[in-house]
Amino acid sequence: MTDRILIVDDEKDTREFMARALSGKYEVLTAADAELAMKQLDTDRSIRLLLSDVRMPGEDGITLMKAAKAMNPGLAVILLTAFGSIDQAVAAMKDGADDFITKPVDLDQLELRIEKALKAHRLESEVKHLKAQLDEKYGMNGIIGNSPAMQKVFRMIRQAAPTDATVLIQGPSGTGKELVARAIHNLSNRSKGPFVAVEFAAISPNLLESEMFGHEKGAFTGAVSRRIGRFEAANHGTIFLDEISEMPLELQVKLLRVLQEREFQRVGSNETVKCDIRIVAATNRDLAAYVKDGKFREDLYYRLNVIDMRLPALKERTGDVPLLVNRYLREFGGKSVSPDAMRLLEAYQWPGNVRELRNAVEKMCVLSSSGEIGVDDVPDEMKRDVPMTLSVSGTLEETEKAKILAVLEEVGGNRTKAAERLGISRRTIYRKLEEYGL
Ligand SMILES: Nc1ncnc2c1ncn2[C@@H]1O[C@H](COP(=O)(O)OP(=O)(O)OP(=O)(O)O)[C@@H](O)[C@H]1O
Ligand SMILES: [Mg+2]
Repeated sequence: MTDRILIVDDEKDTREFMARALSGKYEVLTAADAELAMKQLDTDRSIRLLLSDVRMPGEDGITLMKAAKAMNPGLAVILLTAFGSIDQAVAAMKDGADDFITKPVDLDQLELRIEKALKAHRLESEVKHLKAQLDEKYGMNGIIGNSPAMQKVFRMIRQAAPTDATVLIQGPSGTGKELVARAIHNLSNRSKGPFVAVEFAAISPNLLESEMFGHEKGAFTGAVSRRIGRFEAANHGTIFLDEISEMPLELQVKLLRVLQEREFQRVGSNETVKCDIRIVAATNRDLAAYVKDGKFREDLYYRLNVIDMRLPALKERTGDVPLLVNRYLREFGGKSVSPDAMRLLEAYQWPGNVRELRNAVEKMCVLSSSGEIGVDDVPDEMKRDVPMTLSVSGTLEETEKAKILAVLEEVGGNRTKAAERLGISRRTIYRKLEEYGL
């Protein structure tokens, strides 16, 4: 496929000279000024490279480049500057030009530079593509996981994100509820809008209402000026209501109204404020039990729970442990973990889930004196969960067998559940059991 490039220069001769020289190799378009160039770029998104003079009547080349890049971030830009204006050239590079060429133009140089810029952009988009593919395979938006349980979470995120539906994320502490809330926002049509996180436990109860809804000047002692609340701040974006179980009952009534009517009033005001927000809530408590105990409004519970997302504890998806460990090893300085130590980490129950794992890996990286984290570097409390049969000095097969049997026992012999927990396919677990003669 020939790349399409756009040449912008107010001097007709220069423009046509370059166009002729390059037309053998590229599909060349031309424009006489920035305004005409923008029109072409707007209607033709397949243009890969912009070659523009800096000094032109009307908008200059740098202004054109900024506007063009804002419209099409993948566009390569080469600027043409008059001989000697090095300062201008440096400024142009800082502003995002891929390259600059001084006039008079040397055609061989021009072609080389164009190839170089196009190649750099091709590589960049290839890397992006590969990263997206990897993300697709082992995670999504920074959420890591390849186990069936996490694949299900990713599917739900993908389905829920583009809708405006309210989502309730439930899961034990440290399982990534906030990460998932952010992913929902990032993958939604609201991604350019704000993401506002509210942690109820962290706000003093008597300030909660004004924090959420804002207040008018003089609404209460200390309200010296009008202030907008978190709901208003989240307009056209997503509000993340974290630890929703901790929301006082009075505020629950008001939240219900926001959910039903998409409107509220600032404290000390009769004026109704309309808002356009997506609500994502999270809790690590059993919210249904809170409803039963009268601590959480039932009507609010059902309003919030339109999309019911449950995040699995890490011990339900031990197959993801190596992925997570390796990811954090990279983050904390590139050490490795010995196979035996990894087996211990996989067998551990992780009551604090991914947060605990992340902290543990960081600590082991700091404390281990060699480049490889070994069994001795694993904290003792993480060795206790390991079944007695799992001797760390045993062969790989023995360890694997012990692990599979231990998990099978935990789930009451249910093979599908065991496979899911281990992060392997059902076919694999059946094959393994057959190998062990079971
Ligand atoms: N699947 C995951 N992949 C990568 N990192 C994760 C994953 N799950 C959690 N984390 C990391 O673990 C830490 C805790 O995650 P997060 O704050 O989202 O948990 P949470 O469910 O909101 O916990 P809590 O209920 O305690 O607020 C963060 O550093 C987050 O980046
Ligand atoms: Mg959280």
